[in-house]
Amino acid sequence: MSDHQRFAVVTGASSGIGVAYAERLAARGYHLILVARRRERLEETARNIRAKTNVTVEIVTADLGDSNDLSRVATLIEGREDIDLLVNNAGLGALGLTAQVSAAALDNLIKINVQALTRLTHAALPGFLRRDRGTIINIASIIALMPTPTGAGYSGSKAYVLNFTRSLQMELANTKVKVQAVLPGPVRTEFFEASGLKQAPFPDELFMTPEELVDTALTALDQDELICLPALQDLSAWTAYEAARGELIRALTQSGRPAARYAKRVG
Ligand SMILES: NC(=O)c1ccc[n+]([C@@H]2O[C@H](COP(=O)([O-])OP(=O)(O)OC[C@H]3O[C@@H](n4cnc5c(N)ncnc54)[C@H](OP(=O)(O)O)[C@@H]3O)[C@@H](O)[C@H]2O)c1
Repeated sequence: MSDHQRFAVVTGASSGIGVAYAERLAARGYHLILVARRRERLEETARNIRAKTNVTVEIVTADLGDSNDLSRVATLIEGREDIDLLVNNAGLGALGLTAQVSAAALDNLIKINVQALTRLTHAALPGFLRRDRGTIINIASIIALMPTPTGAGYSGSKAYVLNFTRSLQMELANTKVKVQAVLPGPVRTEFFEASGLKQAPFPDELFMTPEELVDTALTALDQDELICLPALQDLSAWTAYEAARGELIRALTQSGRPAARYAKRVG
């Protein structure tokens, strides 16, 4: 199949990082299937891309928190032989002190950040494996490594995205199918507003633009960097973290005996 017949599915393509992925992937020659709830915003993204490129842009209006809509998108992905790339980008924060966040907001966060990402990945994998080709990009966050108050559900969901992706990378190691986790720091989008905050809890200088983030993450993908920490200047901090994680795993798998510090004290 020539490059010109490849389709990329981008979820959350109605704003922010998803729009930037759609634009950058179109510039790389991908045809697009754009997914989100706000049809007029998807149409705006599609119009802008069609004005600049010759790619085909399809729009799928779907609430990924709705099980029928999610199944519809999953079935579309399962049934298309021409999809080569899935960007699981749709997500939200439901930020605030956990006891003060509504149960509905937390449910919705898990449905979008965890359940939809998992279901769409599961839908894409069999075809990708059959064709021994294809890439899944899962948008996590630095918060996956950095639990914070006022973001307990969010940081839990992004830690899921990171571990889910890492486990898949191990499963897919002997195939040509790639799965990348991208861990952005703060990015200037509608995210914080959509998550219920009036002001982002980060200083201005920590923010990237969505375009900078996506260009960085796609360059990382080109370089086969499958865990992308876009603003990490010196990779040695990550290397040291990974080495320490390896040491901990070795120590955790030495024996099944309860550790001595938990032995019941007599007397
Ligand atoms: N901005 C940051 O600082 C930052 C940092 C780290 C990670 N991230 C991650 O980056 C991803 C994109 O966020 P963003 O910053 O671009 O925020 P954003 O501008 O708020 O975009 C979120 C996107 O998700 C879509 N979405 C939300 N709920 C949905 C639903 N029920 N069904 C379908 N689509 C839904 C929205 O589309 P509709 O509203 O039209 O449905 C929108 O296109 C998220 O996964 C976020 O966690 C963001």
